[in-house]
Amino acid sequence: MPRPREAERGAREVLDPVHYDFLAGGAGDERTLTGNTDAFARRRLRPRVLRGAGTRDLSTDLPGARLAAPVVVAPTAFHRLAHPEGEVATARGVAAAGGLLTVSMMATTAVEEIAATGAALWFQLYVQPDRGFTAAVVARAEAAGCRALVLTVDSPVRGRHPRDERHGFTTLPDGLVCENMRGPDGRARDLVTDPDLGWDAVDWLRGTTSLPVLVKGVLHPADARLAVEHGVDGIVVSNHGGRQLDGAISTLDALPAVVDAVAGRVPVLLDGGVRRGVDVLVALALGAAAVMVGRPVLWGLAQAGADGVRAVLDDLTAELAHAMALVGAHRPTDLTPDLVVVP
Ligand SMILES: Cc1cc2nc3c(=O)[nH]c(=O)nc-3n(C[C@H](O)[C@H](O)[C@H](O)COP(=O)(O)O)c2cc1C
Repeated sequence: MPRPREAERGAREVLDPVHYDFLAGGAGDERTLTGNTDAFARRRLRPRVLRGAGTRDLSTDLPGARLAAPVVVAPTAFHRLAHPEGEVATARGVAAAGGLLTVSMMATTAVEEIAATGAALWFQLYVQPDRGFTAAVVARAEAAGCRALVLTVDSPVRGRHPRDERHGFTTLPDGLVCENMRGPDGRARDLVTDPDLGWDAVDWLRGTTSLPVLVKGVLHPADARLAVEHGVDGIVVSNHGGRQLDGAISTLDALPAVVDAVAGRVPVLLDGGVRRGVDVLVALALGAAAVMVGRPVLWGLAQAGADGVRAVLDDLTAELAHAMALVGAHRPTDLTPDLVVVP
């Protein structure tokens, strides 16, 4: 069964190379993409000893969800490129692992069908210039039982992906559609990125839904402060897995200033480059309430469907529990910044 890091190699063997590059690739020279994993590789741990950490409790409270472990599946588009069963298989794997799946607005399966698996869900949203349409998508996510909305704010324009440009990969293969983008006429709309989007979009969304709202794609502490002032329920420190602004700071390097700015008022999550349980541990020690994981889940999905997703998530959690024992932590709140050094 695929493990988070090794899973990529196996997935590459089974995927169409064009689709592999779409899933794996990043923007520009992929400096930010590699920067995310490099930032974790630069950290070392300074463990505590003789703390009797024989039993660990990894449970974590997040908006709308109590999780067995502080790991959430990040929203990623087009799961049916990775596996014919697409998001349904992902959701089954997530449910089997007792996790939480953030459904992408660009999913190739309808949110209602994903929800029918029984998996705990958040729903990711891009606010569209047509607010009526956006509100209808929100209403669908609510009716399907999603427990929070994750508003992605790092995409005023689309990132440029040289790998996709090289392949001429611009449209989904025949038969695949963004099922959550269907309007009242049943036709799937194209995603509109809106460079004019401002904080009023957050206010509008909060007025449209009773669900908790998280913003995803914050890197600057001033934006984290603004997000809290605009009443969000959580912040995801993210650079979109290196797919938007190439040259953006790695998420792990961005995390501490955001955590300081938020000062415990709402949970701060991090995604980008989390590949090992030790990476989860480092992010938690530097103040994240939980991490999101993107590509490793897609690699598990590509290789073995729901079982592959479950294996990737179970492995990350088992590695985290093991590493917690080795640093002397019983629970995530025992993980403090003094445990992490850059030698
Ligand atoms: C293939 C792919 C598709 C993605 N699609 C979305 C999306 O639809 N919405 C979104 O907010 N983020 C999207 N992301 C970004 C992820 O939510 C997340 O920020 C990123 O994958 C985390 O980095 P990691 O892959 O290194 O774990 C996508 C990422 C990938 C790799």
